[in-house]
Amino acid sequence: MSIRNLDDLLAEGVSGRRVLVRADLNVPLDKQTGEITDDGRIRAVLPTLSALVSAGAKVVVCSHLGRPKGAPDPQFSLRPVAGRLGELLDAPVHFAEDTVGDSARSTVDALADGQVALLENLRFNKGETSKDDAERGAFADQLAAFGDAYVDDAFGAVHRKHASVYDVPARLPHVAGRLVLREVEVLSKLTGQPERPYVVVLGGSKVSDKLAVIEALLPTVDRLLIGGGMCFTFLKAQGHEVGTSLLEEEMVETCRNLLERSGGKILLPVDVVAADAFAPDAAHDTVRADGIPSHRLGLDIGPETVAGFAAALSQAKTIFWNGPMGVFEMAPFAAGTRGVAEAITKADAFSVVGGGDSAAAVRALGLDESSFGHISTGGGASLEYLEGKALPGIAALEK
Ligand code: 3PG
Ligand code: MG
Repeated sequence: MSIRNLDDLLAEGVSGRRVLVRADLNVPLDKQTGEITDDGRIRAVLPTLSALVSAGAKVVVCSHLGRPKGAPDPQFSLRPVAGRLGELLDAPVHFAEDTVGDSARSTVDALADGQVALLENLRFNKGETSKDDAERGAFADQLAAFGDAYVDDAFGAVHRKHASVYDVPARLPHVAGRLVLREVEVLSKLTGQPERPYVVVLGGSKVSDKLAVIEALLPTVDRLLIGGGMCFTFLKAQGHEVGTSLLEEEMVETCRNLLERSGGKILLPVDVVAADAFAPDAAHDTVRADGIPSHRLGLDIGPETVAGFAAALSQAKTIFWNGPMGVFEMAPFAAGTRGVAEAITKADAFSVVGGGDSAAAVRALGLDESSFGHISTGGGASLEYLEGKALPGIAALEK
């Protein structure tokens, strides 16, 4: 890509310079304890941060966490992330209590060469996500004042037209960090000339979220395997009753149309695990996909479906997977996601796992991360990249 990257910046020399790094440290937190349940996104940005630290930069890291509404909200504080980042870097991370206020200013001013600061959640400020260019721009001015150069390593947020992603690079010399560079290199293989067969597995809860990517992928892929909560709207479109399963009624017609146009590329579940309730201890059975009892809801794909999906994956040379096949967080409904993930690792293929949830599933199920070709840190971002959309964060780096 025609974008300057971290090596270009390092070659100029960063010792003593303040480098503002936009990271995606939006990690899942345990609702009860507030503890970080998966630190994959923090680990993913370490190569960029360590390189800057070693080169003697004053490193100012900023990120969002969750979706606070433009004002401070303690449950979305980045403080726990500062602690974890410090452990992983094996160096103190100076945490600012605000994003662009007094605490941020004094924290940044106090940095010595090779030290790291983390600003409080960007989304505690209305300007970060504002649709108003002037409001976003004013916030971007304040952020940009903390850096002499800007590094975007927040791949998970490049699809957002937010101040820290889109407006700050217009104000500072800017480069792509190691993570953004790697993500774009890998995903561009999939949009370029993927080795065939190219098989895509999509799951997750909502068809409406995945519609654009299904449309974009249909002409390109050899097989599209659909599981997860969104499969029930497709099953309904096939004429099956789905009981009390997740259903997007207004999408049934669209799904019917997609199935008609898919030329047989779309594979749907033939059996599902149907339960009395959305609970780990609910009574459940494997039933045919066309025989879901009216009082039950499907919470996972069944074993015959896993076998069929695995057979398609075993032929593949290129695989992209986004979205769990079932409610893998509940042990009785994890077999589908596990089975598909294992089939991906066994295939003699270049495999890419897209998305926060699927990446977290890989780690939560204890699968070996190194047996996948690439685990993306971006959910929405990787899907929008595959859709062929212009991503604001990437476009801003190109300028
Ligand atoms: C993500 O979790 O996908 C990224 O961190 C972006 O978060 P957002 O969807 O809240 O913008
Ligand atoms: Mg997301």
